[in-house]
Amino acid sequence: MKKKYLKIFLLASPFYLKGRSADKLHHLVVARMMEGILKENTKLDSDVMMAGALLHDIGYAKIPKQKIGSFWAKKVKKDHMRIGAGLARNILGKINFPQGKIDRVCEIIATHDNPELGLPIYSYEARVLKEADILWMTTEEAFWLDIGRRQIQPEEWLSTLEKRFSKDPQYKPYIKTNFGKSRVRNFLRQTRKKLRG
Ligand SMILES: [Fe+2]
Ligand SMILES: [Fe+2]
Repeated sequence: MKKKYLKIFLLASPFYLKGRSADKLHHLVVARMMEGILKENTKLDSDVMMAGALLHDIGYAKIPKQKIGSFWAKKVKKDHMRIGAGLARNILGKINFPQGKIDRVCEIIATHDNPELGLPIYSYEARVLKEADILWMTTEEAFWLDIGRRQIQPEEWLSTLEKRFSKDPQYKPYIKTNFGKSRVRNFLRQTRKKLRG
């Protein structure tokens, strides 16, 4: 990761630690996925997209732990986007990020989980962030963390992921790049092989 993005990562770290248990890892992985997308889609603004990747879920730091993953789910989703956008504005203001780019990062953060609320993602940049965010699920770390959190069998979680990536409107339409598509394909193939032999 470039030095200017590490600065953002360091300023966001206290929020990662106060957020969900794997938030530090989650943001690092989403930033790595974003780097892959940026290599393919060179028209995107790297500063905006990397800041979005590194900051998109920091709003969870301000949400009471007992509410995360509970029946408050929709409200939590909404709140972490709104609160996260405010925190990001603060962080980016500290490092002289251009105002216009701060606004775009905040727009990404404020809408990235809209599909889970039944709403569209309006900006193109936020839809690209969604791809990187979803690609988190194509890592071994996320796979086992999700299984632990949900207390389900690996086989069951693999079937859920297969469905998500092949037809679920909340996931499938966002995997646009060849980078993303091949990650999904390889991840599913390797995991199937590991679990089913
Ligand atoms: Fe999120
Ligand atoms: Fe995320």
